[in-house]
Amino acid sequence: MDKTSTTIPPFIDRVDGIPKVTGSAKFSAEYDFPGMVYGVLAESTIARGTITGMDTKGAENAPGVLAVVTHLNCPKLPGYESTAADIAKRPEVNRGFRVFTDNIIRFSNQPIAIVVADTYERAVYAASLIKATYKKDKHNTDLNEAIKTGKPVEGNNFKDYVRGEADAWKNAEVKIEVEYSMPLEVHNPMEIHALTVNWEGQDKVTVYEKTQTLSSTQSSIARAFGLKNENVRVITQYVGGAFGSAFNTWPHSIAALIGARKVGKPLKLMLTRSEMFTMVGYRPQAIQKIAIGASKNGKLTGITHEAMAMTASYQVFTEGIVNGSRSLYACPNVNTRYKVYPLDLSQPTWMRGPGETTGAYALESAMDEMAYALNLDPIEFRLRNYAETDPESNKPYSSKFLKEAYQMGVDKIKWNERNREPRSMKEGDWLIGYGMGSGIFSAWRGDAKVSAKFLQDGTLVLQTGVTDMGPGTATSMTKLASDIFGIPASQIKFEMGDSNYPPGPFQGGSGTTSTLGTAVHNVCMNIRKKLADLIKDNPVFHTQLIHSVKPEDLVFENGSMILASDRSKKITYADAMKNAGLPQIELLEQSPANPMANHTAYSYAVHFVIVKVHSITGVVKVTRVVSAVDAGKIVNYKTAESQIIGSAVGGISMTLMEEGVIDHRYGRWVNNNFADYHVAVNADVPKVEVLFVDKPDPILNPIGSKGMGEVGIVGFAAAVANAIFHATGKRVRELPITADKLI
Ligand code: MOS
Repeated sequence: MDKTSTTIPPFIDRVDGIPKVTGSAKFSAEYDFPGMVYGVLAESTIARGTITGMDTKGAENAPGVLAVVTHLNCPKLPGYESTAADIAKRPEVNRGFRVFTDNIIRFSNQPIAIVVADTYERAVYAASLIKATYKKDKHNTDLNEAIKTGKPVEGNNFKDYVRGEADAWKNAEVKIEVEYSMPLEVHNPMEIHALTVNWEGQDKVTVYEKTQTLSSTQSSIARAFGLKNENVRVITQYVGGAFGSAFNTWPHSIAALIGARKVGKPLKLMLTRSEMFTMVGYRPQAIQKIAIGASKNGKLTGITHEAMAMTASYQVFTEGIVNGSRSLYACPNVNTRYKVYPLDLSQPTWMRGPGETTGAYALESAMDEMAYALNLDPIEFRLRNYAETDPESNKPYSSKFLKEAYQMGVDKIKWNERNREPRSMKEGDWLIGYGMGSGIFSAWRGDAKVSAKFLQDGTLVLQTGVTDMGPGTATSMTKLASDIFGIPASQIKFEMGDSNYPPGPFQGGSGTTSTLGTAVHNVCMNIRKKLADLIKDNPVFHTQLIHSVKPEDLVFENGSMILASDRSKKITYADAMKNAGLPQIELLEQSPANPMANHTAYSYAVHFVIVKVHSITGVVKVTRVVSAVDAGKIVNYKTAESQIIGSAVGGISMTLMEEGVIDHRYGRWVNNNFADYHVAVNADVPKVEVLFVDKPDPILNPIGSKGMGEVGIVGFAAAVANAIFHATGKRVRELPITADKLI
């Protein structure tokens, strides 16, 4: 960590680090109650069609089985019943999937029954005895086939975007037209999705659920079961990674709730690793065509970016694959097109920089190809097309320090010392390559509530209904409060993960710190005001000039209010409260969203990668990574760095390894396990050097941060792919770039 600070330490350690590494942290599958039972799903063996019959006798009579629920005997859920007529009127791609409500099969491995038994093993065995017969319909799980013979989804989300002239690249002095493809990718967090359900009667339930959003989980469960929100309590103390897979309340969770209510006992359901591929979403496969035109001196004249991706036949999912191409560079003529094709697979969802990650792989690879076509350094090419205001909205940026990030990365990796010629750098049998790619991701701020209690002993308790899938939300919020009061982190308790707390934001979209940080900042500042108010007339502070002190006259340090103009005059928070006879100060803060009417806000990153490619075997090793990030002011350096390291791991993974394979004959996943679906492990990841510009954004929120949950992976795959091209002279336009494609 390069960061040094004079007075305020740049970071604190993770406040939940010790419970996590010692195992006392409780995840959603780790709650136990007397009389606990276990739910296991039985799944369809066909990809499309209808169930014509189900034989559940064997399962019902198996030892330890308490219930078998299928569409034939599932109790009606009020929320599903009341909307059934509306849903039937929608086009098929908008009907969604409500578990156990009909006999329609929408994808292979769709849950068709839940078995509840007294042990997990007995539930697994009984589920294996369920037999279904089907009327099979012809299915398609192949995107290429759908593009050839199918129809894309229609609607407002799919209108073409044109700025200036469409397809202007065709008339350019220098032009390229290329196509990139990316496979299905699956989140695969370490923690498998799980929930523990505890009904009190039929109308009140506590759910220990893996989720990135307590409030949506609460309201979607309440809606389905026709309950009041306050009768659904969702608890998520810890999340072991999610990457976007834990926003939805997925069918397996509703199935678990149905099963538990039926038997009237606490129930636990944990997916298997293979179910992680079919039950909780994945990144949609995409094929992208991109064409770039520029003048000989490297000024962009046209970008055309077209993406064809997939969605589920029963649920449209869209993401901003082509959006980055409208805003990353100053280019007068840009047109984009986005189409999604329904396939007979479970529904895709947001994953690791949704949309932008996919799009930036194409755009930033194509920019590299264009830089070679122009015989320009790729950084120089980007600088010649640097956008000083947002070319899409014509609004000024709230802040943009991408230029600074380029420079930091260039200096750190000694970019200019490489030989730009492809296949020119060698070490024995290894070809050496340098590559770069940049990323952009929207920064935003939503609304949030937080309650705060400041006690006479100088401790602060903050409570909000947020969950943390790993970035370290409790840690960064603690750091913010610690800096505002000048009290150590150990005196601050950040309580979260319970829907009974005031509703916090969801965790994701790179917005949690900006959103919740605003609420925490505001509530702490308001407590400071109250503290200052207590002592405004205290003679300790009086001078000839000052007879009443205002908060802005004070510094808040080491548990004391100190007069800025004469630091010998001070009073501790404890004394101030004691003198006033006040045991505690309690506040509830609701901080509003920032609609950003006059500005556009983005975080930026630039990734530099060095690879070694074995000239005979095609083995690729990433040997160095430098990511330079403009995410506004860095709230907590250590967790921020760790987050960007995580993005680099994901980036290496998606470029070199990750690939979901479907056997299209059956519409079933082939590599739905960790042996066959490869992800980067320690040996695949070199030292990742993270640099932050660390300049505050003055507009988005009072803490100056932007967001960094996703921007660390946006453009990363292009950096690796570009480095492989530089090493080998071979441009592979299909992820993952495995050895076989390089020999
Ligand atoms: Mo993220 S894809 O916002 O979890």
